[in-house]
Amino acid sequence: MRVQVAVTEQLQDYVADVSLREPDVLRELRERTAELPLHLMQISPEEGQFLGVLLKAIGARKAIEVGVFTGYSLIATALALPAGGKVIGLDISEEWATVAREFAGRAGVADRIDLRIGDARESLDALLATEGEAGTYDFFFIDADKENYTAYYEAALTLLRPGGLILVDNVLWHGAVLDETQQDSETTALRAFNARIHHDKRVELSLIPFADGLTFAVKR
Ligand SMILES: C[S@@+](CC[C@H](N)C(=O)[O-])C[C@H]1O[C@@H](n2cnc3c(N)ncnc32)[C@H](O)[C@@H]1O
Repeated sequence: MRVQVAVTEQLQDYVADVSLREPDVLRELRERTAELPLHLMQISPEEGQFLGVLLKAIGARKAIEVGVFTGYSLIATALALPAGGKVIGLDISEEWATVAREFAGRAGVADRIDLRIGDARESLDALLATEGEAGTYDFFFIDADKENYTAYYEAALTLLRPGGLILVDNVLWHGAVLDETQQDSETTALRAFNARIHHDKRVELSLIPFADGLTFAVKR
């Protein structure tokens, strides 16, 4: 038997009441993002706070994020880094990056953020081609186009140091991974990704059914 509390709306409100510590600047960014049609792409404040705790727990100084949108997770990451820390954010949209830049400035972390606009696979290829970058990152967050998750994961394994952490968002895709009638490119890519890394001996693995499903993979 598995013990799993049912996560009702009321329980989520309780969790927020007793644990959420969202900085004003992130709340303001969330309110601005809520005006956009695609606002549901943003991670929740609870997940942002969780990112910060993870980054501090592993003592991260160098991070990469694939999928920035308006910057909520990127700024949550930058806020958790020590002085001198750096996070590279990769996204294809200049329009949303403008919002991310504005709020990074307001959060006082613009100097910790290196935002690169373009297809993330190309940006990662450029980073991999830069001498001395492989094996130097502590943390890699994957939250962009699902069809390329495997490519991002492989790049992460090259860029991370041993013991570095990959966090992968949306791996349960609202439960669609279970529904065989769902054969769209995102769902099938996520199923393939989850199956592929299950027995990948290069990492320690854990899939947590938090938010939309989060996979943790620690590079051996
Ligand atoms: C789910 S959103 C990211 C949410 C963000 N982490 C947050 O906390 O708000 C996914 C992002 O991936 C970006 N994206 C999609 N395909 C991409 C690609 N091929 N290269 C780079 N970014 C891409 C989109 O522009 C979008 O901003």
